[in-house]
Amino acid sequence: MLILGIESSCDDTAAAVLQGDTVLANILTSQDAIHTKFGGVVPELASRQHLQAVHPVVEKALSDADTTLDKIDLIAATQGPGLIGSLLVGFSYAKALSMVSKIPMIGVDHMAGHILSIFLSKNPPVFPYISLIVSGGTSAIYLAESFTSFSCLGRTRDDAAGEAFDKVAKLLGLPYPGGPHVSKMAEAGDPDYIKFPRSWLEADSLDFSFSGLKTSVLNYVNQQKVKNQKISTPDICASFEKAVVEVLVKKTILAAEKYNIPSISIGGGVSANSKLRELFHHECAVADKVFYAPELNYCTDNAAMIALAGGHTYKKNGSIPLDHDVYSRSSLG
Ligand code: KG4
Repeated sequence: MLILGIESSCDDTAAAVLQGDTVLANILTSQDAIHTKFGGVVPELASRQHLQAVHPVVEKALSDADTTLDKIDLIAATQGPGLIGSLLVGFSYAKALSMVSKIPMIGVDHMAGHILSIFLSKNPPVFPYISLIVSGGTSAIYLAESFTSFSCLGRTRDDAAGEAFDKVAKLLGLPYPGGPHVSKMAEAGDPDYIKFPRSWLEADSLDFSFSGLKTSVLNYVNQQKVKNQKISTPDICASFEKAVVEVLVKKTILAAEKYNIPSISIGGGVSANSKLRELFHHECAVADKVFYAPELNYCTDNAAMIALAGGHTYKKNGSIPLDHDVYSRSSLG
């Protein structure tokens, strides 16, 4: 089955063509250059940019896959969660394509895409597995039992991990999106320089909370300024990164132990973080769990994961009627 995937949930316009679970083309245009001067995504600008990008990106994906629309068997587009204006562009475009070309269409939950992105790698896990999804909009732990069955075991109660990276980057004067810049800076810093708090919440809780940590970084920077003392950006970045990564890894392994699941995978933009991957490798070996990490281009938003998830949902449930609408919050939790 030849599947065209379309993703436009936030600030990246992406299209991919898959033959089953095999990627034939994976195209993405980033809007980072537009949003960086505002220190975050401006929803209105994002949807306007999607309008300009979606058609050329789809055309490029079809041509890179050496195919044409009439050969496509299924159109899979992100239906939610995300920015409504952004989602509407990709989803409405997909609906229009489906209507004129009479190709069946499926709406895909963005979180399901991230959870299944590990199947775009060479050695995916077998079900069931625990999946940590950490991005700019989400931090959540899921139990994946099949290509279409996911339960949320824990989620952030306030900021997402990527949001915390972005906000800390902004207060340190680093560009948007902040995660990669904080991580790069952290390479030259001492992760034990400042003991930022770890928010474990209640014993056994699989939920996350990162807003207190972000405030601690802000307080530390302000106190240093008041005391006229040096602010070492690399040390702050390394100490902050360590505080985030430790909580993410420990809680994910706790979930795997609690539900007696042997495999752990990760997904979402923050899963590109090298310290997170290193600690997972180390702690999974200690806990006798097998760790799976997607390739870097499948960590951040992409349409290949949407096409893959869409293909499996279609096999189970068939296509959707074209009066379906986008949604801002995932039903997956
Ligand atoms: O999944 P994603 O591409 O998109 C949305 O959330 O919409 O994730 C983007 C997030 C941003 O917050 C970005 O700062 C973060 O992922 N990120 C990282 C790294 N690369 C991207 N955070 C930490 N370390 C990284 N290397």
